[in-house]
Amino acid sequence: MRLKGKSALITGSARGIGRAFAEAYVREGATVAIADINLEAAEKTASEIGNNAYAVRLNVTDQSSIEAAVKAVEAKAGGLDILINNAALFDLAPIVEISRASYDRLFSVNVAGTLFMLQAAARSMIAAGRGGKIINMASQAGRRGEPLVAVYCATKAAVISLTQSAGLDLIKHRINVNAISPGVVDGEHWEHVDALFAKYENRPKGEKKRLVGEAVPYGRMGRTEDLTGMAVFLASDEAEYIVAQTYNVDGGQWMS
Ligand SMILES: NC(=O)c1ccc[n+]([C@@H]2O[C@H](COP(=O)([O-])OP(=O)(O)OC[C@H]3O[C@@H](n4cnc5c(N)ncnc54)[C@H](O)[C@@H]3O)[C@@H](O)[C@H]2O)c1
Repeated sequence: MRLKGKSALITGSARGIGRAFAEAYVREGATVAIADINLEAAEKTASEIGNNAYAVRLNVTDQSSIEAAVKAVEAKAGGLDILINNAALFDLAPIVEISRASYDRLFSVNVAGTLFMLQAAARSMIAAGRGGKIINMASQAGRRGEPLVAVYCATKAAVISLTQSAGLDLIKHRINVNAISPGVVDGEHWEHVDALFAKYENRPKGEKKRLVGEAVPYGRMGRTEDLTGMAVFLASDEAEYIVAQTYNVDGGQWMS
């Protein structure tokens, strides 16, 4: 019960890693807003998690939607103590084929969505005067380049940079901003990634996923539950003195 009585909002938590975070937070005593652009899926996830989870409609690319979601959490749970900026999009293309539309979509969700969601949460936390915890989802892709992944890599590098600046700016309000950098995590997201690699690298479906899993020093792809320990820790009182950091939780992938 390390998050007993805390109110959390997790963006993009209708499925995947965000959903696993929501389940872990509820187990630790928090009340969690399942905030997602897919309201129907968010409602289903919330009802499966139980009484301490509730669905909130959120499009992180829309400022009025961000503000409405924070207000909904304040009204429902009496304030906002923890934000996880988890919603993100992925795309793949060689440099000479990247489209403006793909660039705009990814930067709008992954970077602007993270910044303006973080800003709205910080305003709420500052007004309440009891500090808070903000966790951004980065990626090993934000620490290096990849031939087909330029835009996604750039968005995640921006998330790491935003974590550093926001962490330094907000700690005076006792708001800790940190990030988690996963490697490759199995789930619906990776079905989409695998299909894109199959197209651009001319591979059979499933091969890329198998190869990336084998390349992880731990010996397999990550599972969503591999990430929950770090997400709980960074939101807990034990992480009070941790500021502006990005932690790899990747089975050793980045070090290799
Ligand atoms: N899965 C991986 O291998 C991996 C690796 C490194 C980092 N990450 C990062 O972890 C996070 C979660 O990844 P995942 O694999 O669970 O992703 P996912 O695609 O399974 O889930 C993303 C969720 O975000 C929601 N979403 C999309 N656009 C939105 C918007 N505009 N507003 C609100 N919600 C929106 C989707 O509806 C979905 O529920 C992402 O930030 C991702 O970049 C994932």
